[in-house]
Amino acid sequence: MANIRAAITGVHGYVPDYILTNQELETMVETSDDWITTRTGIKERRILKGEGQGTSVMGAAAVKGLLEKTGTDPKDIELIICATVTPDMVFPSTANVISAEVGAVNAFSYDISAACSGFIYALTTAAQFIETGRYKKVIVIGGDKMSSIIDYKDRTTCIIFGDGAGAVMLEPSQDDNGIIDSIHKSDGTGAEFLNQKAGGSRYPATHETVDAKEHYARQDGATVFKFAVTNMADYAAKIMQRNNLTADDVDWLVAHQANKRIIDATANRMGVTEDKVMMNIEKYGNTTAGTIPLLLWDYESKLKKGDNLVMAAFGGGFTWGAIYLKWAYDAK
Ligand code: UT7
Repeated sequence: MANIRAAITGVHGYVPDYILTNQELETMVETSDDWITTRTGIKERRILKGEGQGTSVMGAAAVKGLLEKTGTDPKDIELIICATVTPDMVFPSTANVISAEVGAVNAFSYDISAACSGFIYALTTAAQFIETGRYKKVIVIGGDKMSSIIDYKDRTTCIIFGDGAGAVMLEPSQDDNGIIDSIHKSDGTGAEFLNQKAGGSRYPATHETVDAKEHYARQDGATVFKFAVTNMADYAAKIMQRNNLTADDVDWLVAHQANKRIIDATANRMGVTEDKVMMNIEKYGNTTAGTIPLLLWDYESKLKKGDNLVMAAFGGGFTWGAIYLKWAYDAK
């Protein structure tokens, strides 16, 4: 057990202005508002429009808001980790681009790639630097411009995903609050069920890969659904058990927003009632690494110091896991 706990001391988010509604999707692919709502819980999602606009635009906006809100000088930031699978470029990392954009000139920065589990992987990674006493101000970003890898002719994926980013400040806890436990897993045999095939070193971009639509995200929805329900619920239950938490002890479930049915199943398994489940899938869809920090941003005003939060995620890789933390501040 670490002597120093890492605490989230601020959160901010950014979503683009453009709203892609289920009604607009009905004009693009063979689908219906009713199908999308009942199967996923999604009503609309945000899309980042404009030439040359990458994930860093949203990440930097979230970080700028975070710095302002917490009254932090960007020069005091020591490390920035950005979780994303839609980096601005293959390299340099999106975290490098964001650091320059926000003036974090004394920080080192890098990306973490774990798809929908990216934010919780990055949070656990960042927490280690605080817990060892090495650093005192670390920013963790989760964000994706999923619209850059979505085929808006494929109804099985285009209805799900959206664009957005969130960022949190991580500092040494002043008391007992902060990140208490985390449990993560990955299984690379899941790669065939959820991936973007081309554009990496195995299948670099060619005219053929573009024609075959291999630069788009593709998923076997039903298989991913099955694994997501089981593993997210299992790991959320496991972290409760390991920390002797009953359903009454849990104040908030902060679950990756992939599908309302998966979130409901996780809450059921934990025995947590609906009023304790953070939910914003209806307005943002699945923003991949963005969902969890965007939830914290949306619910920040409701959170109280000492609240018990269980975060849980499942995504491409496969990757999954859960984090147990005690919220460290009352909203101003
Ligand atoms: O965040 C990363 C992890 N990702 C996830 O966790 C996503 C997990 N998967 C899911 O959320 C769900 O599988 C989906 C929302 C993607 C799909 O829901 P489903 O209940 O699993 O549907 P399905 O794929 O089994 O398809 C059922 C039917 C099919 O038609 P038939 O074969 O029964 O005639 C599909 O062709 O629904 C059809 N369908 C659609 N119909 C209207 C598929 N997409 C659509 C659509 N509109 N957009």
